Amino acid sequence: MSDGINDFYSSLKKRKSHIETEYRSLTPVSFQRFEEAKKVLPGGYTRDAVIRHPYPNFVTAAAGSELVDADGRRIVDFCFNATSMPLGHSDPRVVEAVTRQLGAGTSLQTMTGRETELATTICQRLASAERVRFANSGSEAVMLAIRLARGFTGRDVIVKFEGSYHGTYDDVQWSVSAPPERLGSPDRPACVPESAGLTANNGRTVVLPYDAADTLSNWMADNGDQVAAVLVEPMANRIGLVLPEPAFLQAARQTCDAAGSVLIFDEVIAFRLGYGGAQARVGVVPDMTVLGKSIGGGFPVGGIAGRSEIMDLTRPGHPDRVTHPGTFNGNPVTMVAGRTTLEAMTAESHDRLNATAEALRQRLRDIFEGLPLQVTGAGPMFKVNATSRDIRDHRDAVTVDKTWESLASLDLLNKGLMLTTTLRGCISTATTEDQTEALLAAFSDIIRT
Ligand SMILES: Cc1ncc(COP(=O)(O)O)c(C=O)c1O
Repeated sequence: MSDGINDFYSSLKKRKSHIETEYRSLTPVSFQRFEEAKKVLPGGYTRDAVIRHPYPNFVTAAAGSELVDADGRRIVDFCFNATSMPLGHSDPRVVEAVTRQLGAGTSLQTMTGRETELATTICQRLASAERVRFANSGSEAVMLAIRLARGFTGRDVIVKFEGSYHGTYDDVQWSVSAPPERLGSPDRPACVPESAGLTANNGRTVVLPYDAADTLSNWMADNGDQVAAVLVEPMANRIGLVLPEPAFLQAARQTCDAAGSVLIFDEVIAFRLGYGGAQARVGVVPDMTVLGKSIGGGFPVGGIAGRSEIMDLTRPGHPDRVTHPGTFNGNPVTMVAGRTTLEAMTAESHDRLNATAEALRQRLRDIFEGLPLQVTGAGPMFKVNATSRDIRDHRDAVTVDKTWESLASLDLLNKGLMLTTTLRGCISTATTEDQTEALLAAFSDIIRT
């Protein structure tokens, strides 16, 4: 790394203690709440995605695109719970639908019809969706999709890609955030466990490089007959919200067809790309799609949509039945919140939101011109990457200066703007022009100091 680049990153790092002192002085109540949390939650947390140094901000209220924290500060939200809420917080239409359902029962050991309605909405807009099942998280949905693919093909091996996060199921917790020294060869990455305590891999999960069409085709030509499923994000979230070359997803489709393997798109986040999800945008139709986040309108959800031939394995009486119980599957509160949200997100709303986000990404690129900061993202989502490398895959993504990113994120929070600690963000239909202007001004300020 050249000295100029180091100098750029170190000028913010020199302000570390000032930024942290300011944060502490703005958030004494959050500090207090965190001290209380530490007494009963390990390290003070019950969710990894909210970890922040020196401690997390506690939020007590949210409406539209604004949060109020425990210290009474108003903060503009650019996270929307990891892209879950395209309409922002407490949208009146969602609140009304949910309130009506609260009065009609929240948790019932019967069908309600609300699950049929959300499934119908999903089938109308997602090309791969002939049948849908609901779960309570994206992780559960990934687990069922894999079980279905294994049940359908009678094979065991799952292919996933280096740097892709697909939730917490053991079989996908491999090579998500593997550090540079453990990556192995670029064509055949090492399979690096993401956590202690995982079930031994024993070749059940194979890791290949993201966005490498030829590597995938060659590997599948030799090994495809063992492969139950290729699980791929049509937009890679952890890598930096990047879209692969069209040839990569086309190769995934062709090789799965040739090998008789199931192609699964993980659109837990990528569904936010537009009305028909990522698959409409990339022009490749998978056999199954995993959904989550935004289809629950702010409530816990997972969804698996796909070809009836595969999905019907869950049908009662199927001779090779794949079971899928779950106390809260299809719970009516989530179902009405999800349906109301999806119906409000018309094709025009998606297009408008995406155009606003594209303008924001472009303005950020202009501000960062000549600096070692890359702006990536698609649809309503964006990420600022502290690196001078173009980001295409995990090996590019691991070059980011994480310390710079998390300090910049804390500095933004001091200025009343919330992105993740890795400078990921998205906008909702509630985000205003004043708020995006404030974000641009804050970034201009951060790079000047
Ligand atoms: C692409 C992707 N797949 C799966 C998941 C898991 O979803 P959940 O956190 O609802 O279990 C996530 C969560 O961030 C995700 O980003």
